[in-house]
Amino acid sequence: MTITYKDAAGIAGMRTACRLASEVLDYLTPFVQPGVTTKEIDRLAGEYMLQVQNTRSATIGYQPPGYPPFPASLCTSLNHVVCHGIPNEKPLKKGDIMNIDVTVITPEGWFGDNSRMYQIGEVSIAAKRLCAVTYDAMWHGIVKVKPGARLGDIGHAIQKFAEGQGYSVVREFCGHGIGKVFHEEPQVLHYGKPGTLDELKPGMTFTIEPMINAGRKDIKELGDGWTIVTKDHSLSAQWEHTILVTETGYEVLTLSAGSPAKPGFVADLVAA
Ligand code: MF3
Ligand code: CO
Ligand code: CO
Repeated sequence: MTITYKDAAGIAGMRTACRLASEVLDYLTPFVQPGVTTKEIDRLAGEYMLQVQNTRSATIGYQPPGYPPFPASLCTSLNHVVCHGIPNEKPLKKGDIMNIDVTVITPEGWFGDNSRMYQIGEVSIAAKRLCAVTYDAMWHGIVKVKPGARLGDIGHAIQKFAEGQGYSVVREFCGHGIGKVFHEEPQVLHYGKPGTLDELKPGMTFTIEPMINAGRKDIKELGDGWTIVTKDHSLSAQWEHTILVTETGYEVLTLSAGSPAKPGFVADLVAA
């Protein structure tokens, strides 16, 4: 397996897939409320993808080697769940924080992958801060993306920022190349050393999706074969965007009307 570089048609395909993935999260936002079950959120998303967007979920039935097939149209990772949470019948309650991770496939076969944190009612100051710092951590990685930079620059920026805020970075899961394949090369680690690993080149598309824990970095897998939780049961947060390496920098592909604003430290590139 090697890195794929998208041509103009591929970039157009990825822009569409990624916008649609983001629009699924927009659609779900008003439903994410106390009393709603994650299974209901999953049902709503599956219906929206198939009937409104004409996309398919990339996660339903997804079965990497050694895993059981994933049973839902999205992942719902609540509180101390790090990632790959399976929707269930338990109602959300005030004070919960939850990541929803959606990957769609367009009829042309392009994948768009993104996730956001949702706060259920009023949440604790600690939970709010973890969500905000994790969002900024993702963006500290994104702004490193440009031709000639290296994957290690991204990981280092995320790790330095998150650890500087007193949090830890999950090591076992990473961002990934994406295109006509869900998970392709390269691996995009959320920790590392500047100037190391693959050089970024125009046409690469990959995700940046840091999982940040309030406590220690260690994780464990639950018996369902998918759900990952923090070993110390501390809160965990994650945000994910799919990014294109352009000739001059980066383009965030998973944007739509409901995307949260960029952090203040991210400079707007003004077109010349
Ligand atoms: N969307 C996740 C990612 O960011 C992968 C989820 S795989 C699943 O790579 F099977 F758990 F849904
Ligand atoms: Co991903
Ligand atoms: Co994802």
